[in-house]
Amino acid sequence: MDIRVFLGALGSLAAALWAGFRLRHLLLGAVAFLFIADFLKRRRPKNYPPGPRSLPFIGNFLQLGFEQSHLKLQELVKKYGNLLSLQFGYLNGVTVTGLPLIKEVLVHQEQNFMNRPMIPMRERIFKNYGVLMSNGQMWKEQRRFVLTTLRNFGLGKKSLEERIQEEARHLIAAIEEEKGQPFDPHFKINNAVSNIICSVTFGERFEYQDGQFQELLKWLDEVTYMETSMQCQLYSLFPRIMKFLPGTHQMLIRNWENLKLFIYCTIEEHKRDWNPAETRDFIDAYLNEIAKNSDNAASSFHEENLICSTLDLFFAGTETTSTTLRWALLYLAINPEIQEKVQAELNRVIGPMKQPSMADREHLPYTNAVIHEVQRMANIIPLNVPREVSADTTVAGYYLPKGTLIMTNLTALHRDPEEWATPDTFNPEHFLENGQFKKRESFLPFSIGKRACPGEQLARTELFIFFTSLLQKFTFRPPKSEKLSLQFRMGITISPVKHRLCAIPRDDAAG
Ligand code: HEM
Ligand SMILES: *[C@@H]1O[C@H](CO)[C@@H](O)[C@H](O)[C@H]1NC(C)=O
Repeated sequence: MDIRVFLGALGSLAAALWAGFRLRHLLLGAVAFLFIADFLKRRRPKNYPPGPRSLPFIGNFLQLGFEQSHLKLQELVKKYGNLLSLQFGYLNGVTVTGLPLIKEVLVHQEQNFMNRPMIPMRERIFKNYGVLMSNGQMWKEQRRFVLTTLRNFGLGKKSLEERIQEEARHLIAAIEEEKGQPFDPHFKINNAVSNIICSVTFGERFEYQDGQFQELLKWLDEVTYMETSMQCQLYSLFPRIMKFLPGTHQMLIRNWENLKLFIYCTIEEHKRDWNPAETRDFIDAYLNEIAKNSDNAASSFHEENLICSTLDLFFAGTETTSTTLRWALLYLAINPEIQEKVQAELNRVIGPMKQPSMADREHLPYTNAVIHEVQRMANIIPLNVPREVSADTTVAGYYLPKGTLIMTNLTALHRDPEEWATPDTFNPEHFLENGQFKKRESFLPFSIGKRACPGEQLARTELFIFFTSLLQKFTFRPPKSEKLSLQFRMGITISPVKHRLCAIPRDDAAG
């Protein structure tokens, strides 16, 4: 063999070996780098709240398990205390348990906990716009505007209450059509509740037979539970990878885009017949605000924000309240003796003919207690809406660096055995004392502090009027030979699983 060929072959073999060697080392180096970077990311600062050891890259994601995660967490809180650190991928989270610490975070130190974390799905759909998840000056402006307009469009005034009463009559008529036969109350209730926030934001209500609006409500319902699917959880950890893969997260994106498009079209219609002198609804008021700020480049009032803030109101104003109302009917169908007591009180105080109004509430302590107990047991937003630490701070002696995700555990509060006589059983007595309604401190379904729910008053009015109007006209029962359960569907809100009820018209209620 020619020596040159031999040397050449040897050379290329060496080159190949060298290249392979380099490649292997490069790979090894890259992996080592990722582990070190990950380790540094997961390294806890001094005095950081304690928590279970986390795995590389995924943190406590798998350890928590999906099905029994709440049981597992309960053990961890017992072991580590009321500030528990957990890691979700690259997110450092801390859960806060117990009223004193929740108040410390949401009230006493609220300036450090006012922000929301960036959530990739939200970022994708809303950028940083809107009111629910925005931060800083933009959030301040959007929130203030939402509160003012809610007030101007009748919150705490007669007009909105009357609108709710009228909607309750539509709902009663729709339920009467079922003639006491088993039916799924889900979308009728959704529609009725949604019509209230729709009348505030879009200036119109939608008929329960409106196929297009029912489609919209279906999307809204789907986004609330898709969010907790495996793929969506993975999307929130690895958005740049998941964005190329198929799965529930893609459906979720499509649903959100559809909802946005609906809001966009509604705004376009408003623009066509917009009259600055006559403000019909939230969108009109917002268009005025955009016009007023047109020469201020720093203003957060622009069309993108109009779409996102309107969608936030539509979403937050529909799902929460209707889910609570669905739980209410379910709890009463399961507890007929409690339902009878509510109806007896309604008979005594209002009678069968007059439609209930907010002025009646103080004379209906039992009914009021039942509504509160529904909210306590239903506990539809178990970990509150997340916050993020906006400046390094200390809570209960522990150091919380800027950027830490904060979850306040409302479930622990609403089921605290120290606070409630029968924490896991539906019992209106929790909110009664000597037959009078009693407020409870450990009851925070709307959260507290400057970032608490701005829709609280609206939601309470809706719950009271819808609930009492329905109970005045119907008795809710499980269908014969079907058993109702309190099983729930996990999502952005905890909601009842699909079920049917019978709404029996009350003999003692005239008309
Ligand atoms: C039973 C019904 C409702 C419940 C249980 C509920 C609960 C909550 C909770 C726990 C928060 C998070 C507060 C925090 O971070 O401290 C919130 C925020 C919010 N809610 Fe409600 N809510 C309800 C009804 C409504 C209604 C009817 C509206 C419509 C006006 C609404 C609009 C909002 C908005 C816009 C936010 C975001 C506020 C912000 O980030 O500044 N909610 N709600
Ligand atoms: C919140 O508290 C409930 C009730 O104690 C518990 O089951 C759950 O695991 C807790 N969740 C977190 C995230 O701490």
